[in-house]
Amino acid sequence: ETFDAQGLHILPGAIDVHVHFRDPGYTHKEDFESGTASAAFGGVTTVFDMPNTLPTVADAASLSAKHAIASAKAHVDYGLYAVLGEDSIGKVPELIEAGIIGFKLYMGNTFGRIPSPSTGAMLEAFEVVAPTGKRVSLHAETNSIMERRQAQLTAAGRTDALAHLASRPAVVAVEAVARAAILAEWTGARIHILHISSAAELGPLRDAKARGVDITGETCPHYLMLGAEDYARWGGIIRVNPPVREAANQGPLWAALADGTIDMIATDHAPHTPEEKTRADIWSVDCGFPGVETQMPLMLTEVANGRYCLTDYVRWSAVNPAKVWGLYPRKGVIQVGADADLAFVDLERAWTLRDGELHSRSKVSPWDGRAVKGLPVHTMVRGRFVVKDRALMADTKGFGRSVHALQQMPVPQPRHLDETIAAAVAASPPGVAA
Ligand code: NCD
Ligand code: ZN
Ligand code: ZN
Repeated sequence: ETFDAQGLHILPGAIDVHVHFRDPGYTHKEDFESGTASAAFGGVTTVFDMPNTLPTVADAASLSAKHAIASAKAHVDYGLYAVLGEDSIGKVPELIEAGIIGFKLYMGNTFGRIPSPSTGAMLEAFEVVAPTGKRVSLHAETNSIMERRQAQLTAAGRTDALAHLASRPAVVAVEAVARAAILAEWTGARIHILHISSAAELGPLRDAKARGVDITGETCPHYLMLGAEDYARWGGIIRVNPPVREAANQGPLWAALADGTIDMIATDHAPHTPEEKTRADIWSVDCGFPGVETQMPLMLTEVANGRYCLTDYVRWSAVNPAKVWGLYPRKGVIQVGADADLAFVDLERAWTLRDGELHSRSKVSPWDGRAVKGLPVHTMVRGRFVVKDRALMADTKGFGRSVHALQQMPVPQPRHLDETIAAAVAASPPGVAA
């Protein structure tokens, strides 16, 4: 097979560990076919799909149903998350058996209205998952703080988009990160902090890393590149959980990526329809916007601007995600042959992001009209072109495969598990209904 790579750079395909492809249940927003096509156009060769679909992925049946959908529709490789909540603690073995990349725990409410476990249930959940070696990814926002703020703001008659930010001040995330880190330290559970949005979260994250907690973190392009002043322009479109914050957070987030406190870039690709995004109800749960296709051009623009170098980007977009989920070096490297997951990019190409040109079913984002430099031209998954010369190849639907079987996660040693708790757990395994 011939193709033109003249003038292009070859990068490992990006691994986006945080996407919402809405399938099954919300396919009017996105499905596995449109979501993975969008990924392929963005130079992304592996995605990890979140479990807040309908039904929620919280048992072997719902997980197997999603595996069937994904294997029939995916253009790129994928991992599937399962919910870790009060009702699924007892389902940990069957979920692992049915093939997951990791668990997702919702500390705060967001799209899909998945109940948040109490701190006690979280401790128990971590105790059960720790010996399996699977990582628990956390939506780290504390519900009880947000609910009170939202009630106050509603009582005060606030209806502007900035009320969304006011209802979720950084302390909402800081409290959750610190609490999750303590529970992870106590149980030996591996955890990952999703969508780090504020400078303030970096404190508890750094402290936990220094104590030896197996904790990793991601941030997203919108927290690095957008700020509170953008609410006036975008209104409800920019609403995302956690919220885009004051621009003063951007510098510390970039610095945290550079020094390794934040391990990687993910997108939280969260598609909704234009009607859903422009509803008058400022407390609508349709938060987030598509991002899987725009991450690479947005980030490469900062390489072109000299903010960091290409090898930093590769570490954040591919190497570290592969290492953290035990896929390295099968994924996250440049190689030829049957495992070649590659993005061929034109680093010199200046162009403009347009919502209408996205391959996601959702065509509404706060990136519309933004000037970027860097274009993924061809995308290869396991040695096969999925996108070539900016065109989706005809026969790659269903070529994507689940990566869970590639995963190697050594079992960690618990650090602070109480002997009393350990004895109680041994006598009556957590999650097994009494
Ligand atoms: C996500 C969604 O829509 O599924 N929305 C969001 O604002 N980020 C849920 C989430 O990741 O919290
Ligand atoms: Zn989230
Ligand atoms: Zn998300």
